[in-house]
Amino acid sequence: MTNYALLGRQLDALLDTTDWLTNSAQTCAMLVQEVPDLNWVGFYVQREPGVLHLGPFQGKPACHPIPFDKGVCGAAARTRQTQRVDDVHAIADHIACDSASQAELVVPVVVDGRLWGVLDLDSPVPGRFAAEDQAGIEALVDIFVASTTFND
Ligand code: SME
Repeated sequence: MTNYALLGRQLDALLDTTDWLTNSAQTCAMLVQEVPDLNWVGFYVQREPGVLHLGPFQGKPACHPIPFDKGVCGAAARTRQTQRVDDVHAIADHIACDSASQAELVVPVVVDGRLWGVLDLDSPVPGRFAAEDQAGIEALVDIFVASTTFND
């Protein structure tokens, strides 16, 4: 099991700027190194109302843009609830970017009551994300938000 408390302390130390672009890139790079069995991790950012734009990520080139009414990422943005999917093939609305992806975890990033974007993690292992992973990644998103200034 990933030690998310340790990762939180490492992320806090890593984010030594407040710039959203730098911090989101660093966060993705750290997650892909430290969390096992990921084939894609990245941010989608709401840069126009109701649309997610591809932001910093690690993995294969990915789908862009994603409207709020599409995909697992859109569901996370729309509902502001984390989406934890054991089997992406069971989700009719899933947008396949990398055929390796089997499981997905999408955490909304809410800043001052506004949906800033989402953090999306994909795994080639079905059922990869347990409730503990969800809680751990949500805590890392909280650290990212607390460490960052969200101007454009
Ligand atoms: N699978 C996502 C799209 C983004 S990629 O996984 C990087 C979705 O259904 O929203």
